[in-house]
Amino acid sequence: MPMGTETQDPQRPRSGGVVSPGLERCFLFDAVEESYEITGITGRVPEWLRGSYYVNGPARFERAGHRYNHWLDGDGMVCALRIAEQGIQFTSRFVETRKLQEEEAAGRFLFRAFGTAFPGDRLRRNLMLEPPVNVSVYPFAGTLLAFGEQTLPMELDPATLETRGDFDFHGKLNDVSPFAAHPKFDPATGHLINFGISYAAKQPMLHVYEFDEGGSLVRRSRHPVELPHSNHDFGLAARHCVFFLSPLLMDFDRFWREGVSVMESLRWEPERGSRILVVPREAKAGQAFTIPAGQGYCLHLINCFEEGPLLTMDILELEAPVYAEYQPIPDLFQTVRPCRPVRYRIDLESRKLAERLPMDYDRTPDFPAIDPCLVSRGYTDFWMLGISASGAPGRKFFDQLAHGSWRKGDVRDLYQTPAGEYLGGEPIYAANPNARGEGVVIVEHLKARNDESAFLLFDAFAIKRGPIARLPLRHRIHPGFHASWSATPLPAPSQSRL
Ligand SMILES: [Fe+2]
Repeated sequence: MPMGTETQDPQRPRSGGVVSPGLERCFLFDAVEESYEITGITGRVPEWLRGSYYVNGPARFERAGHRYNHWLDGDGMVCALRIAEQGIQFTSRFVETRKLQEEEAAGRFLFRAFGTAFPGDRLRRNLMLEPPVNVSVYPFAGTLLAFGEQTLPMELDPATLETRGDFDFHGKLNDVSPFAAHPKFDPATGHLINFGISYAAKQPMLHVYEFDEGGSLVRRSRHPVELPHSNHDFGLAARHCVFFLSPLLMDFDRFWREGVSVMESLRWEPERGSRILVVPREAKAGQAFTIPAGQGYCLHLINCFEEGPLLTMDILELEAPVYAEYQPIPDLFQTVRPCRPVRYRIDLESRKLAERLPMDYDRTPDFPAIDPCLVSRGYTDFWMLGISASGAPGRKFFDQLAHGSWRKGDVRDLYQTPAGEYLGGEPIYAANPNARGEGVVIVEHLKARNDESAFLLFDAFAIKRGPIARLPLRHRIHPGFHASWSATPLPAPSQSRL
């Protein structure tokens, strides 16, 4: 077998126990590139909701009879909603990476992927994956950037979503610069802050970058880390960047010499423990330091903020890494362990953990989102997707939209889909510009039974009442990863410069 898994009958369940009906229909189909005005909207779209929603995610898992193993392997596709007075325009387009272009021309997979290696597979400069740029998408510096893991973002036309090329921040980064898929945007300045980890054999190094609102480099710092952590996300506070470094370690020796996938090169060593790394945003603000933080695993943070000497770091904490649950496509999350929101409070003066406050909600939530205006600031509300069957055997997927509140101490507001219906994409929060504390949450809705896809709008503070509007699409879309919202409407596609 040359790679991945050969295409099988997608109807045949490959796992016992709970079998989420139709899940294969959410992953295994040809995604379409489209642009049209959405018709048949039911419910009510608030008058004040004007702007652009974007979501990125993997959307191609098969080629020439071969299937990728892993959810992270698929080629990135960005979907956009342009919500204007005249109506709502949907647009979808693949990110035209070098990987996609060369594989389109060859008619087969050519490059090693995160969870799929095969004989003769290729790497970028024999060094790293040729990224599918499928993780996130954000408006920044007057343009739109699609992010992959540990690589330069790609610039897209904000209206047509056509790919313009690598975005190198005015020549400050290059195509092997480590650069994560989870930039943070400081609401006070509009600056973009991000990190990357370079895995030199002797001394892994964490790089922290800050760019101004035009994309010019403001500062860059380097911090040695003890172990080659696989780290996906970080938190931004007013004066610090904060990392939850779990003992999921990358063995590059295996990756380079044995030709295995990233997935096969990762080792989970819980006995080493997790550490919180606190890095001052400005060098003059002091030294970076770490503190022990149990043995959990964190893929995504919710938010961080400072109050005097107290630093709060809110994360979604799993008992073990989740990447092994992203395979094999489409039988995901078969043995996924519980995950819950956890608040850590750190005393910056004593450099000790002051408090750890877990929530009870443990339905393996992921893709946490908050009001973007509250990044790095005190906040209470957040939204995330959850898996109702977490803990039961068999494949499963996100089917809950959960609204957590630190003030209430848990999830008290939740929407559960009917059986065979799933939710996808970070549930992004769009604030009412005329009324603080009022907002809408936008999320993908995937009805596996009859191949329907839509976007759902919820009143952010009354999720349990169900969607306030449903925006049906003409075709299926894949479950997305991360989303963003810009209150500035896109230019209409006809006004695009491409
Ligand atoms: Fe992520």
